[in-house]
Amino acid sequence: MIILGIESSCDETACAILKDGELLSNVVVSQIDIFKSYGGVIPEVAARSHLEAILPVIDKAISDAKVNWDIIDYIAVTNTPGLLGSLLIGTLTARTLAILHNKPLYAIHHLKSHIYSNWLSASGETGPSQRPQFPLLSLVISGGHTQIIKMTHHNHFEIIGTTLDDAVGECFDKIAKILGLPYPGGPSIAAAAEKGNPKKYHFPHPKTKNPLDFSFSGLKTAVLRQVQKECGVGLDFPSHELKNLLTPEQINDFAASFQKTAIDILLEKLRLAKKLNPDTKSIVFAGGVSANQELRKMATASELPVFFPNPKFSGDNAAMVAMACFYEIKSGIKPTDPYKLTLAPRSDLC
Ligand code: KG4
Ligand code: ZN
Repeated sequence: MIILGIESSCDETACAILKDGELLSNVVVSQIDIFKSYGGVIPEVAARSHLEAILPVIDKAISDAKVNWDIIDYIAVTNTPGLLGSLLIGTLTARTLAILHNKPLYAIHHLKSHIYSNWLSASGETGPSQRPQFPLLSLVISGGHTQIIKMTHHNHFEIIGTTLDDAVGECFDKIAKILGLPYPGGPSIAAAAEKGNPKKYHFPHPKTKNPLDFSFSGLKTAVLRQVQKECGVGLDFPSHELKNLLTPEQINDFAASFQKTAIDILLEKLRLAKKLNPDTKSIVFAGGVSANQELRKMATASELPVFFPNPKFSGDNAAMVAMACFYEIKSGIKPTDPYKLTLAPRSDLC
């Protein structure tokens, strides 16, 4: 069974080929260099860049895998959630290819793909001993989502905790901006944090009505207020100018203290989720923030039975899209009519 996966939900154009659960090729073209100078993704520019990249990326994935359209069995594409213009390029391409080559088409939820990145093993291929066991809890931590999802078996998802406001990745990105660290904020904060003191500043852990829910906007404001205090300026001082008043040492200390608080909150909620679901066999991290080395270190040192995707699959890629599709097919889920495929900028995985 050969699956061609396509991903274009944000600022990565990607295609991968999976044969019977084994990865044959994986091509990712990132737009990070374009958006570095803007400090964030501009949806219109992202969509145009996807349009330029998508066909060469698909051609390369097919030639790297040494396959051709005669032997490709299925097409899988991300249809939600994501930037509307970006999703449009991937889904229109996938629909056209499905109709042209007469292949069944699977529309795959982006968060499901992130979770299934854990079924791609360390080398980029699958390995049975490394697969997570059910029932499992997945912590999905990306630029747009922060959720704890319970899975009792493949393709069954129950959201037991979610963010009430900002996603944790968004919080990394926004705090990086305040500190004058380059886009994308997550890796920049992580690099600065390595040189900083995580105990220098103390930030609150927000309380939520459902103790498994998250709230990160308060943490973002708490960091902003502390930066303003350190700089000796008022609340109305432009936040984009604060970076000019901070020393490199202060920037590193803020990065380290914020990162520690964010990780502590994530692991605290996970421990509680595990306690409330004592039959949990695996804890599966998913999404861009799962690349964070300090998080990996802290989670691995904890008593939790954790799984992390290979760092090359923690950000957006199409190998995970094809893998999620593989398990949809194995579970008997039917393909989507390519003429009727819908897409949505926001949607929950349920
Ligand atoms: O999953 P992803 O690539 O795209 C979405 O689906 O949103 O996640 C992107 C997010 C960004 O907020 C980025 O700053 C964050 O993941 N990120 C990190 C790290 N690498 C990427 N956050 C913390 N530490 C990292 N090393
Ligand atoms: Zn993602």
